[in-house]
Amino acid sequence: MRVALGVSGGIAAYKAAELVRLLQDKGLDVQVVMTRSAREFITPLTLATLSGHKIITEMFGGEAGGGNIESAVEHIAVAQSIDALVIAPATANVLAKMAHGVVDDFLTTLCLATQAPVIVAPAMNVNMWEHAATRENLETLSHRGVRVVNPDEGYLACGMTGAGRLAALESIVQAVCEALGLREDFSGETILVTAGPTQEPLDAVRYLSNRSSGKMGYALAEAGRRRGACVVLIAGPTSAEPPTVHTLERVRTAGEMAEAVFRHCDSAGVIIMAAAVADFRPANPQAGKIKKLDGPQVMNLEPAVDILAELSRRPRCAGQIVVGFAAETENLIENAAAKLRAKHLDLMVANDVSRDDAGFDVDTNVVTLLFPDGRTIPLEKMSKFDVAHRVLDEVVGMRRFAASVVQQ
Ligand code: CTP
Repeated sequence: MRVALGVSGGIAAYKAAELVRLLQDKGLDVQVVMTRSAREFITPLTLATLSGHKIITEMFGGEAGGGNIESAVEHIAVAQSIDALVIAPATANVLAKMAHGVVDDFLTTLCLATQAPVIVAPAMNVNMWEHAATRENLETLSHRGVRVVNPDEGYLACGMTGAGRLAALESIVQAVCEALGLREDFSGETILVTAGPTQEPLDAVRYLSNRSSGKMGYALAEAGRRRGACVVLIAGPTSAEPPTVHTLERVRTAGEMAEAVFRHCDSAGVIIMAAAVADFRPANPQAGKIKKLDGPQVMNLEPAVDILAELSRRPRCAGQIVVGFAAETENLIENAAAKLRAKHLDLMVANDVSRDDAGFDVDTNVVTLLFPDGRTIPLEKMSKFDVAHRVLDEVVGMRRFAASVVQQ
């Protein structure tokens, strides 16, 4: 999702740098729009570097963009491309212009041109904040649906004390997330996700593995993080780029993955095993490289640890939810249901990995959700990110159901 961050000219403008980072942390693409006076307080270069986009200040591209058709309609392009506009800090001047429909720069023009939700976080001197003009302007804006994140009280840069300090950045981010419908339903919770394949060494240079890309596990980790969870991601070897999470542990073998899972599992409210863990490993891996001249080899395999089966034998923390993924090529529902029962799972995501548009190494998935009570929910083809959100939605639903049973 894309958000325009409007920065107007008050001392709190320097906080826009941190705000860009916090919004990006929620997975948002941030386009900064500055008023002329904001540039007196923070340089466009700082915000351009952090946001990864050029900063827009002037209508028609300013001096550099004069006569350029693209810059003449840029406000419309930005207005149509954003999912929300947040103005922080919003000065008394900008609020007044917004309330009266005055458009004299890019930011105020954007305010009129966009149909996306608008959030303002005012910051100013206490007398300006309490002035009847500001109060009336804010009332007008609130009536029009603009969300206002009220300033905090405290010591102000002007030397006075009172209301007018830019609200805590977390409150502003929360207001943006609410406006965008981004949920924070895993806030304060730890989700443990495993992803990717494992590699079981045959010798110094060869291994047994599978085609898992880790994309499904990474999508789950990213979705969990965006929904406020502290995500512990345990990833097998894959070339896909992992999302930014609280803890990332890289492992290679099933044994290493098991060790990491068992170390973190007691702190996790939700465990999602999306990894394609090896079932067998070479019983006697060679320390050096096996040579061709040694002739054809017979490899003995021994069972690798079944992490989920082992977890199911251990005492579970109260309320912990465990989700498995079943990779199947035939009898999808029957096989997945048997694994759900055998591994005592709360939810099994059954994956037909024989399809070209599902399972290994693609961005889409076609899965069926299976529950211990026998219910099955087939989902249509969707992105792995959407599947991840559906899985998390089901976890939330189970929680809600468990809470309602306790209350009764
Ligand atoms: N799993 C695990 N440890 C293993 C193998 C699998 O924890 N050694 C987990 C996977 O992460 C997945 C679930 O068990 O969540 C089912 O994995 P899957 O490979 O589909 O099934 P298996 O139980 O390994 O059975 P099979 O390979 O015979 O289908």
